[in-house]
Amino acid sequence: MTDAMIELVDVNKWFGDFHVLKNINMTVGAGEKVVICGPSGSGKSTVVRSINRLEEHQKGTIRFNGAELTNDPKSVASIQGEIGMVFQQFNLFPHLSVLENLTLGPIKARGLERSKAVERARHYLERVRIPDQADKLPSQLSGGQQQRVAIARSLCMEPKVLLFDEPTSALDPEMISEVLDVMVELAQDGMTMVVVTHEMGFARKVADKMVFMDQGEIVEQSDPQAFFANPQTERCRTFLSQILQH
Ligand SMILES: Nc1ncnc2c1ncn2[C@@H]1O[C@H](COP(=O)(O)OP(=O)(O)O)[C@@H](O)[C@H]1O
Ligand SMILES: [Mg+2]
Repeated sequence: MTDAMIELVDVNKWFGDFHVLKNINMTVGAGEKVVICGPSGSGKSTVVRSINRLEEHQKGTIRFNGAELTNDPKSVASIQGEIGMVFQQFNLFPHLSVLENLTLGPIKARGLERSKAVERARHYLERVRIPDQADKLPSQLSGGQQQRVAIARSLCMEPKVLLFDEPTSALDPEMISEVLDVMVELAQDGMTMVVVTHEMGFARKVADKMVFMDQGEIVEQSDPQAFFANPQTERCRTFLSQILQH
């Protein structure tokens, strides 16, 4: 046993005949920030979606705080209650106000009293720096603001770890930094984070570990300094030179 919060051991997954994850081994310690990068289609989303059981792997083991992920609905519910996820496409309820988006989970899934849920929602809206947007609908906000609402919504569930799947990829360029700034603050506050992103400035700033994936495999896994200064494989070098050109 290790004291890893998240542990993937020889994880394999297929979509039909397609071998999408090949012997994935990775650990995330409490408080650690792991950044996953790699070309489109390499399996990054599938890895993070498997960690919180939005996808089911067929071989190998995933553990969260020592407990193996299984199909037991109680285990799935407990995992999804403790692991928050932020998607590329915000996934806010369009017909609910920002405040209602934030209070829904805590009230319905956690049985929190409405007044407490509202208090918590306002606290996290403050934290993502949009306290004055509580009564708007998502469509009345910019993409950067919507993604910060999505982060606040995750925080309202008080997760033990946050997974981010390309949280800034759908944003106009001028809105990327307002979202990354919030993520940097979360990292500095000690949140355990697994972040799929190609924002290498962010990675250099916060990552404890870099993971590079290609064609369903983890090709490299190292600390950021070594990763950027001295990538070990041609595939990783090529990838980095492509994304760092922008
Ligand atoms: N539900 C699915 N059914 C079949 N193939 C899928 C499914 N989801 C993803 N894939 C395929 O698996 C591969 C990895 O996808 P994904 O994890 O989304 O990659 P990434 O996030 O690195 O772009 C891709 O080839 C993709 O087309
Ligand atoms: Mg993806």
